[in-house]
Amino acid sequence: MQHLFVTGGAGFIGSNFVRMMLDKYPDLAITVYDKLTYAGRVENLQDVAANYQERYRFVQGDICDAAAVDKVIAEQQIDAIINFAAETHVDRSILNPDAFIQTDVYGTYVLLEAARKAGNLRYHQISTDEVYGHVEGSHRSLETDCVAPRSPYAASKASADHLVNAYFITYGLPITISRGANNIGPYQYPEKVVPLFVTNALNDMPLPVYGDGKQRRDYQYVLDHCEAVDLVLQKGVIGETYNIGTGTEITNLEMVEILLDELGKPRTLIQHVEDRLGHDRRYCLDVHKIMALGWEPDYSHEEALRMTARWYMHNQWWWEPIRSGEFRDYYARVYGDRKRLA
Ligand code: NAD
Ligand code: DAU
Repeated sequence: MQHLFVTGGAGFIGSNFVRMMLDKYPDLAITVYDKLTYAGRVENLQDVAANYQERYRFVQGDICDAAAVDKVIAEQQIDAIINFAAETHVDRSILNPDAFIQTDVYGTYVLLEAARKAGNLRYHQISTDEVYGHVEGSHRSLETDCVAPRSPYAASKASADHLVNAYFITYGLPITISRGANNIGPYQYPEKVVPLFVTNALNDMPLPVYGDGKQRRDYQYVLDHCEAVDLVLQKGVIGETYNIGTGTEITNLEMVEILLDELGKPRTLIQHVEDRLGHDRRYCLDVHKIMALGWEPDYSHEEALRMTARWYMHNQWWWEPIRSGEFRDYYARVYGDRKRLA
């Protein structure tokens, strides 16, 4: 039986990945190792814990704690490490970058050392299209493009990618990296734009669109991303990086209009507010390399947005307690004094 060590598995993408992998491979075991920050929630995996008692284990821990990481890896005879653990929200990285440097950079180093000490374990790093920075004109970022991160979050993720590549070159650690575009779907913490806007709209609250709303993103369905990560684990070339996204783009305003349409809510909820500092106007990935491995997305932006809106409509049990907790202070700090634009 193969055994994966999935860090950050209680977060949004990690929990979707763990569920998908255990459903798909009857001969696979997974240990999730997660600090349970504000973004990590055991509720995200409660069905998994009930359905897969024999093949699923949860350990609460910090990836920056080398002794704890080494211990869990030694106990479980791990075959591969998949690192989803990170601080992930750009706006929080602008308010306070410290945790981003700790977890995203130092934590990645701890995991790489653990993989090396355990006899060069297979290691996969979950990275992001944000490492390429703002993408000009009609260019699509290639895996060979230089990284040019512009937010503290993106810089922490780009630093981690450099470390991962350095461990491949220096120690021969069998690594791969994937750089995903914006994921959407079930269990995404409602600070990120799509769940924020859907839950605001369901509460008849304004949707704070940053600046002119003409920034361009590739909103992909989370399970499309997870399938591509699985493919990289199975067929990816060691030492290589793979972009994962639909390879198409829409503006934030187009995204909002699809959500409001699906929810049956009026456009008057749209409220333009002061822009994010250093806001990247456009990300767009060239995805030929991952497609050449045999992957293509199952869902368009529009399908992914509509499915996501419906999930939040039907799963208030999940997000209502979140919105009444730590989230309230956060919302007041980021949006409270933000200037409205005409
Ligand atoms: P998330 O914020 O929902 O989850 C992050 C998880 O990591 C949480 O469960 C949290 O508790 C855990 N964690 C944080 N610090 C930790 C630490 N020090 N030790 C152990 N666990 C820790 O994030 P997500 O959106 O699921 O993103 C997962 C990964 O995918 C991240 O590496 C992120 O950079 C990357 N990514 C995200 C997107 C996206 O659109 N969400 C796109 C591309 C790449
Ligand atoms: O591109 C991949 C990245 O996508 C991941 O690496 C990050 O972890 C993830 O958080 C996400 O980053 P973004 O900054 O693109 O996502 P966010 O949901 O914060 O914002 C998406 C777009 O919506 C962006 O152009 C900013 C805008 N936005 C965001 C918020 C929170 C708004 O207009 N209003 C908002 O309130």
